[in-house]
Amino acid sequence: MDPEHISQDLKAVLLTEEEIQSKILELAAAVERDYDGMELLLVGVLKGAVMVMADFARALTRHAEMDWVAYSSYGSGTRSSGVVRILKDLDTDITGRNVLIVEDIIDTGLTLSWLVANLRSRGAASVEICTLLRKPEAAKMAVSVKYVGFDIPDEFVVGYGLDHAERYRNLRCVGTLAPHVYSD
Ligand code: XMP
Ligand code: MG
Repeated sequence: MDPEHISQDLKAVLLTEEEIQSKILELAAAVERDYDGMELLLVGVLKGAVMVMADFARALTRHAEMDWVAYSSYGSGTRSSGVVRILKDLDTDITGRNVLIVEDIIDTGLTLSWLVANLRSRGAASVEICTLLRKPEAAKMAVSVKYVGFDIPDEFVVGYGLDHAERYRNLRCVGTLAPHVYSD
């Protein structure tokens, strides 16, 4: 195989493209039911949620505006601390709006808890969360997550927007990385 081939770096595929796409359709159907007759603003969290947003928004048959935020969390090492720096804020005034945050993955949920509180403080009519993936620790989160695609084990995953050192976001599946990737 071509040594540059991206799938050579995977240890295992956790979720196939088909599994992801059928879950996205389910999530979109649930959101259409729940927001029937209401306006809706989707807020994607850059960069990881780009793929989820692209597929989820197109799975909706109703109008939905889109906006984006980007933030970095200060923390020691790889764990987030919940202390957040905004890199890109919303372009939209969300006063009175129904906001649905679109996320790729929730791990500790610390950064997302901060984001929910921040958006509520700006006068949004409602703020809910839709995430494709959720790790076990997120169960301890104070804010409830209304829409969850898959509960996954506490392993580092890549693909479908999720990266390791900015690579693997363009994989169509979600998987774990082979040990050689970490030792290279
Ligand atoms: P918290 O802990 O605040 O952070 O919920 C969620 C963010 O942590 C990153 N994250 C991952 N990124 N594979 C990734 O590529 C993973 O398995 C993983 N777990 C957590 C991600 O940036 C997410 O938004
Ligand atoms: Mg993310």
